Formats: sequence, C-alpha cells, structure tokens
Amino acid sequence: MSGPLLLSVESSCDETGIALVEGGRRIVSNVVASQVALHAPSGGIVPEVAARAHLRWIVPVLDEAWDGAGVGWRDVDGIAVTYGPGLAGSLLVGINFAKALAWVHDKPLIAVNHLEGHVYAGWLLDPGEDESSRQEPLFPMVALVVSGGHTFLAEMQDHLTYRLLGTTVDDAAGEAFDKVGRMLGLGYPGGPAIQAAAERAVRRDVRFPRAWMGDSYDWSFSGLKTAARRIVAAARADEGLPDDDPDARLSDEATAELAWGFQDSVVDVLATKTARAAREIGARSILLGGGVAANAALRQRMAAEADALGSPLIVPRPGLCTDNGAMIGAAGARRLLAGERAALDLDARPSLPLAKR
Ligand code: KG4
Ligand code: ZN
Repeated sequence: MSGPLLLSVESSCDETGIALVEGGRRIVSNVVASQVALHAPSGGIVPEVAARAHLRWIVPVLDEAWDGAGVGWRDVDGIAVTYGPGLAGSLLVGINFAKALAWVHDKPLIAVNHLEGHVYAGWLLDPGEDESSRQEPLFPMVALVVSGGHTFLAEMQDHLTYRLLGTTVDDAAGEAFDKVGRMLGLGYPGGPAIQAAAERAVRRDVRFPRAWMGDSYDWSFSGLKTAARRIVAAARADEGLPDDDPDARLSDEATAELAWGFQDSVVDVLATKTARAAREIGARSILLGGGVAANAALRQRMAAEADALGSPLIVPRPGLCTDNGAMIGAAGARRLLAGERAALDLDARPSLPLAKR
C-alpha cells in the first residue's frame, strides 16, 4: 500500500488513542488507552478526570504506538488530530500534543472532525489483513454513525461530502444504552453490558415503544428512556423489590428480558431508517460506525437489511467502532490529499457538526 503515513491523535472523550496509518487505510499501529475503569465508579464520564488522564497517558500511548511499528519520524508525512466535537479539556490535550509534535518535527498538521473519523473507520485494514478480502466502501453511500454523543445518518456522494439525512432530536443512541444500563444496574458503559444481558434472554417478546418521528429520518430516544423507567419499575414491583434500593437487583432473567426489549427497539428504529435511506438514494454501500455499531444485534440486523437490498454492509470490527486513533488517521489522509493543512493556532471545537442539513 502507498500513500501518506500519518501519525494520528484522538482524545475527544475518554479514550487516548494514537495510531500510525498508511494511505488512509492500512493500520501500522493503533494504541488505545481506555478510561472506562476510571469513570465506572461515577457511572459516567467526569470531564476534568478525563482530561487529566489524557495528560498522564498520552506520552506512554505514543511510545507504545512506535514500539515495533518499523517506521520512524522521517517516514511520517503529517500529524492528524481530532479538534471536535468532544469535551473541551480532553480535546485540548490531544491538540496541544499534536501541535508540539508537528512543530518540532516540521510536519503538516491536519485537523479532523471526530465524526468523520467514525465514518472513515470503514476504510481501515488491520496490519496483516488481506486487502482483497475486504470490500472498499462505494459511493453513493449512506453512513450511520451511532455513538455515546452522536446519532446521525448521512448521504455521501463522494469523499468528504455529507448530506445530513437524519439525527436524534434528543439523546444519542449510546447515551440511551448507558442510561438504561444504569437503570438495570448493569454499570457503565451500558452498551456492551446490555448486549451481554440481552444475549442471555430466554423470552424475547417484551415490546418497548418505537418513536418513528413520522416519515423523517430523525430519531428520538428520550421517550424510550422514560418508557424503560416505567417498565423497569413495574418489573421491580412484580418481584416485590423496593423502588429506592439499588442493591436490591432485579432477577437475572427479568434483567435479560428487559435488556433484550430495549435493544430490540433501538436496533429496529436505527436499521429501518438506514435501510429506507439506502433504498431511496440507491446506495452502493451502507456504512456503520461509532461505539453503538459494535453492537452485535445491530450488526446482524443491518447485515440482513443490506443483503435484502443487495448493497454491501461496511462495518469495522468492534474495536474500530469505538474511539481510536486509527480512524482519525484514515480521515486525515483524505484531508491531507485534498490539500488541507491546519494552522498551529488550531483551537478545539467542542460542538463541531459533521454537516448542516
Ligand atoms: O464512539 P464511542 O466510543 O464514543 C463516542 O464518541 O461517544 O461510543 C461510546 C458509546 C457508549 O455509549 C457505549 O455504551 C456504546 O458506545 N457502545 C455500545 C456497545 N459498545 C459500545 N452500545 C451498544 N452495544 C455495544 N456492544
Ligand atoms: Zn466517538
């Protein structure tokens, strides 16, 4: 493979990620330090704790990214960094670090939108992976990005161009997973825990509501969250559990059934609208990205929808769906090839959108 070799830095939320990526596609190395254990006791991300952890871990993560990579600074063509959206304090750590590296080594700096990174994770190949065994995304395409902070569906007619088709009007899909995970006493983050619990469900007929939002491509998850609270409270009453004692846990069986019902509702609305959009625009591929795209039920359902439409489904392996540095290197290479360079006074953009409607 050829093309620019980028060193890429991701620190927008609670993962410190640094990668070396060649030609926007081939991962040379990709190291992620996750703060999940650090934030688990508080049941969510504490911004200042996240920023300080990035500060402590970013140099060790860089050292590990170089270890065994077989390349050196002279091979690097540019430094890509996430400049938004995300937590301001967390973003500043990665941006400042990337700027210092770009300045010291006299390399171009490339500013990358985190959400674009989730999209471009669809192009990544692992170090020894055979290129011919993996379908490259084709345009026109629909891209569904579902993460802890974002839920959007975009049409792409070409690289780096997005038409926003739909988004959430309230909570992000991952946020709903995290909140319902907490209600069920499954801990943080809720997404992987809900998936694991749902897989243990014996009865699979609990019906959670779906907010279809008319004919739009938008989603709403706050009503689902309220419904979940009501359904969990009713299940607790059935088992004679007090409302206010989190240590009195629902039975494993009921927890699994409710986790399944909630997950089924989220997967249904995401997959139905994505498939409809793909049909409408005549998509030649359907791409999924973001932490919630790691969800096995969503992947399975989307694979069936894509199969029925005859358009290939592109979905990164779970470790490349959640935040990582490699996806920033994949998007950054496209931006570098398009002639983009960021100035060294680059600032964080905590609310940076991917595209306007
Ligand atoms: O993309 P990501 O790592 O960070 C953001 O940019 O937000 O996504 C994290 C989100 C969390 O809400 C987490 O609960 C969810 O992705 N998630 C999952 C799964 N793995 C992570 N949700 C459902 N099923 C999963 N297997
Ligand atoms: Zn993300």
